[in-house]
Amino acid sequence: MTHPIILARDLHKVYRRGSSEVRAVDGISLTVMPGEFLAIMGRSGSGKTTLLDLVGCLLRPTSGELVLDGEPVSGAPDAKLAAIRAAKVGFVFQEFNLIPTLNALENVMLPLRYGPRRPNGRAEAIELIGRVGLTERAHHRPAELSGGEQQRVAIARALINRPAVILADEPTGELDSTSSAALLAMLRGLNAERGMTIIVVTHDPGVAGATDRVVRLSDGRVLSDVRRGDPGWAAALRGEPRVGAAAEGSGGARRAWARLGELLERRRVSRP
Ligand SMILES: Nc1ncnc2c1ncn2[C@@H]1O[C@H](COP(=O)(O)OP(=O)(O)OP(=O)(O)O)[C@@H](O)[C@H]1O
Ligand SMILES: [Mg+2]
Repeated sequence: MTHPIILARDLHKVYRRGSSEVRAVDGISLTVMPGEFLAIMGRSGSGKTTLLDLVGCLLRPTSGELVLDGEPVSGAPDAKLAAIRAAKVGFVFQEFNLIPTLNALENVMLPLRYGPRRPNGRAEAIELIGRVGLTERAHHRPAELSGGEQQRVAIARALINRPAVILADEPTGELDSTSSAALLAMLRGLNAERGMTIIVVTHDPGVAGATDRVVRLSDGRVLSDVRRGDPGWAAALRGEPRVGAAAEGSGGARRAWARLGELLERRRVSRP
């Protein structure tokens, strides 16, 4: 039986500064199944990075339940949390976060130090470098690589521990349109050919449009959760407010959209 890669229930992350508090994530429930490719969208400050960091075990929730690939995360001690992160999560950040003194191959091999033991690690790193098209650049340091190439190194690094999920925070944010398209094609390929589960935070409707599901956040909550083929798909990409179902959860919203779709379909069919 397949279990969810991510099972989040009523997640909260509250930052307290003196007397003020910020509810960065304010009651998010989300289920992501293996092989899903989904985008998280929303305005600046809506909680996208916080949610991604919670899911990736970089942050600990203030309250709520989180299970990552079958491992309960919410109550885990720090060492356990770090171990789950190393074994299950591959991160790709907007700023690439490569180590400047290491070359591309060494950067890709870095997570091997923290993850499960992998005797063939170096060979696998070389293979991944090839897969992202950088064999010729394996011994270049980050400063000697273009932005797109650096981000491809970051993708290879995220894959080396064979993670259960790839979490990418604005991965195309610092890339030109050609490099963005190449990166997107690579993510799409990883998802389609290898069944990789991928969550990508993005402002770009072009990036979100390449995924199969868009979760839109507002003020730390899920505003809408729409799948490709749902009647609200195009509107979700454009960021338009959804119709009706305001107080319902995402399941409710989906049902509401489905009902609307059915209604429109029936009207179309019954017309002479
Ligand atoms: N360490 C922190 N301490 C206090 N407040 C924080 C902290 N990190 C984030 N916040 C606040 O939490 C809210 C959500 O931040 P988050 O970084 O998740 O937003 P985001 O959706 O990723 O925005 P952006 O699109 O600009 O990256 C914001 O109001 C932010 O100011
Ligand atoms: Mg962010």
